[in-house]
Amino acid sequence: MQIFAILSSAAVASAAVMAKRDIIFKVSDFSAGCVAHSTQCLYYFNVTQPGSPGAPDVPVTCKALVTANNDGTLPDVDDGTCLESARTWTALHADAGITLALSQQVSPASYETGSHLLASNEFTISNETNAKVQSYTGPTAFDLVD
Ligand SMILES: *[C@@H]1O[C@H](CO)[C@@H](O)[C@H](O)[C@H]1NC(C)=O
Ligand SMILES: *[C@@H]1O[C@H](CO)[C@@H](O)[C@H](O)[C@H]1NC(C)=O
Repeated sequence: MQIFAILSSAAVASAAVMAKRDIIFKVSDFSAGCVAHSTQCLYYFNVTQPGSPGAPDVPVTCKALVTANNDGTLPDVDDGTCLESARTWTALHADAGITLALSQQVSPASYETGSHLLASNEFTISNETNAKVQSYTGPTAFDLVD
């Protein structure tokens, strides 16, 4: 009954969201890593939207060149952009890793957002030639779900 109470007090639209984890975007070619002997880190990925009707589902490239944390680890990105696209994304540290979330505006007042947790154990810290840098070693393709 508690679930019913929550659903009935929320907008009808969010009932569908709660019922199922829909795939909003598909990411491919994902990489994230910092460059040894540099202060730079690059997040890069391609993204498609499987549900989009009409237009062919051409991948959009999203990337951000950001300054490494002092310890050589990947920093948060809170204003990521995609080439020739209004989609925006964030990569924010969470307890269990880094959450990648991508949004697309679908009307003046609403956005579609999908996210995926890049787990802590999918990152490695290399210590080659005395340069400690972090990079992502997990799957390069995954879904962003709501
Ligand atoms: C990302 O998608 C673009 C556009 O389709 C493509 O040209 C590029 O090669 C892709 N990137 C990678 C790393 O495959
Ligand atoms: C990284 O390399 C330096 C120099 O080779 C070494 O002193 C340090 O202990 C290494 N750190 C780790 C975490 O392996």
